[in-house]
Amino acid sequence: MDLKSGQKALDSDLIKRTKLVEVEGVPLASNIAENWSLLQGFAARPDDLLICTYPKAGTTWIQEIVDMLQHGGNPQRCARAPTHKRMPFIDMILPKSMISGLEIAEEMPSPRTIKTHLSVQLLPPSFWEQNCKIIYVARNAKDNAVSFYHFHRMNQMLPEPGNWDQFLEDFLVGKLIRGSWFDHVLGWWEAKDRHPILYLFYEDIKEDPAREIQKVAQFLGIELTEAVLKRIVQHTAFESMKTNPMANYSSLPSSILDQAVSPFMRKGTVGDWKEHFTVAQSERLDEVCARELGGSGLTFRTEL
Ligand code: A3P
Repeated sequence: MDLKSGQKALDSDLIKRTKLVEVEGVPLASNIAENWSLLQGFAARPDDLLICTYPKAGTTWIQEIVDMLQHGGNPQRCARAPTHKRMPFIDMILPKSMISGLEIAEEMPSPRTIKTHLSVQLLPPSFWEQNCKIIYVARNAKDNAVSFYHFHRMNQMLPEPGNWDQFLEDFLVGKLIRGSWFDHVLGWWEAKDRHPILYLFYEDIKEDPAREIQKVAQFLGIELTEAVLKRIVQHTAFESMKTNPMANYSSLPSSILDQAVSPFMRKGTVGDWKEHFTVAQSERLDEVCARELGGSGLTFRTEL
């Protein structure tokens, strides 16, 4: 694979909506399940930083924030490659002959920042053994589900989402790719008590990006001047990232991400769920949230 020119050829014929296969009870893309031992054997290094999320919780956003922090707030240095090449997505294993995040990660010199959507119990053990720092971002279930629905529509490698009502049912019972949102956010929430994990919320970053960027800087041991902080806030604002070809996934062909169906940088707000949920659906999700998260101390805001 040629990392400079980009990647192995993207073969459109190989791009199909994936089947789901359960691994330890979590539905995953069949390619990941088939390469499970390869992924589990991934060799983390002590200076790796891991960014972890349930899909559509603001992964790309925190990736851009972290990259800016790591590069002194210099946007040119963050424009060296698209997000998925700057920070390999290790649990993105594509059909033979196509790019695999695992391969990009293995070939990358240290220090690496790596992306994953894995549930806590599925993380390759080397990340725990090497005591790697981890940043987790969680987003309220309602907006997360809406964003995931539109992403299923436009991502030609994910299963067909069906209509919104069906999709939400699948979300509530954890039948979608990556499994239960509740288990994901809770598993990582509990893990933070025994591991260096910075647990952030999409809603908090939206409310006060400077405050949350400072938290990240502190976690990474990076000193920030006011000027650099201001530049990072501007560069990572939704409107900037929407038009940034290195952050908006426009580098991927429409045979993978069809942005004519729904743009990757879609709304970028807290509360878009109100355009999708019926009152009954909203109450039902509130009930499930109360049952699943009750007593954990983990709470979410669904509006600002
Ligand atoms: P919406 O679909 O609600 O717009 P991920 O990167 O985990 O796939 O998450 C994508 C979601 O984060 C999308 O949500 C996207 O618009 C939003 N997002 C990406 N960059 C953002 C930013 N700078 N500010 C706010 N939201 C952002």
